Amino acid sequence: MKKLLVIGSLNLDCVVNVDHTPVAGETIICDSMNMIPGGKGANQACAAGKLGADVTMLGAVGKDMYADIQKSSLSQAGVDISHLVERDKESTGLAIITVNAEGDNSIIVIQGANATLSEKDIDDNLELIRQSDIVIFQLEVPLETVLYAAKKAKEFEKTVILDPAPVPKEFPEELYRYIDIIKPNETELGMLTGIDNPEQHLKEAVDCLKKKGVKDVLVTLGDKGVYLEDKNSETERIPAMKVQAVDTTAAGDSFTAALAIMLAEGKSLREAAIFANYVSAIVVTRKGAQSSIPTLEEVKRYIEQKEMAV
Ligand code: RIB
Repeated sequence: MKKLLVIGSLNLDCVVNVDHTPVAGETIICDSMNMIPGGKGANQACAAGKLGADVTMLGAVGKDMYADIQKSSLSQAGVDISHLVERDKESTGLAIITVNAEGDNSIIVIQGANATLSEKDIDDNLELIRQSDIVIFQLEVPLETVLYAAKKAKEFEKTVILDPAPVPKEFPEELYRYIDIIKPNETELGMLTGIDNPEQHLKEAVDCLKKKGVKDVLVTLGDKGVYLEDKNSETERIPAMKVQAVDTTAAGDSFTAALAIMLAEGKSLREAAIFANYVSAIVVTRKGAQSSIPTLEEVKRYIEQKEMAV
C-alpha cells in the first residue's frame, strides 16, 4: 500500500451553532459549545485514516488536554501519530467556529504550537518524507516550513498535493514549482490569481496556476460541483451531489484526503475527484470536523445507494 504523509496543522475546534453569522458589533446568544478535534492537516490525516490509507501526520501540538483529544481521534482513525512533535511552552492550536443555519461556517484559528513547526522538524523527519509516496500540505503552519518541506518532497520525487487554505497575503511563488496537484475552492482561486469572480473565468484562472508550475488543478465550487484540469489540459466538470448541508467544516479537507487515497490506488484524477465528491457530500450532512468524516464502508454504502437511485 502506498504511504501518505500529511504535514500541517492540528486544532481543537470550539464550535457554536448559530442562527446567523454575527456581523461586526453584534452579540448573539447560543445554547452550547462543542469541542471537536479539527485543524486542516489533522482533518486530512483523519479522513485518510478512516478511508483506509496508510497515513502519518507530522505537526506540532502542546502538552495539554487538547492534544490528548486530538491524538485519540487520529489514533482511532488509524493515523500514525508517532511523528507529532510536542511543545512545552505553546498550547495546541484552537479554532473558534460558528456554523449558521445554512451550514456555512466562519473560523478563527489560534495557531498555538502549529506556528512552531519548523525546518528543523522537517529535517528531523527527512526519512519519513523519503518513505512516503504522497505528501499533503495546507497553509495553517508557517509558510517557510511548507516551502522547505515541499521542496524536499519534490527532491525525493514524491507527489505533492496542496490545499491552499487559508490563502496567505503573499503566496510564495516558488512553492508552485513543487506542487503536483492544487485544490483551491473558488474564493481561494480568486485570491491566488487576482481574478475577480473566478467562477466565470475558470479556465483563465486555472491556466494562471498552471503557468506558475502546478500540474493538475481541481477547483471545488460548492453546490456547483468540481472543475478539474489535468496536466494534459483535459478538463472535466463533476456535478455536486444534492444534499442538505448542516455543516461544511472539513468538507474540503476530506475531499483532499480522499483524492490522495484514490490517486495512491492508481485511479485517474477524474475517478479520484468523483470519489472525493462523494466523501465531502457525506461530510457536509454531519456536524463537526473529524466527527463528520465517514469510514470507507460508509462511503461505499452511500455510493451504492446513490447509484441505485439513478
Ligand atoms: O477546514 C476546517 C478546519 O479549519 C477546522 O477544523 C479548523 O480547525 C480550521 O483549521
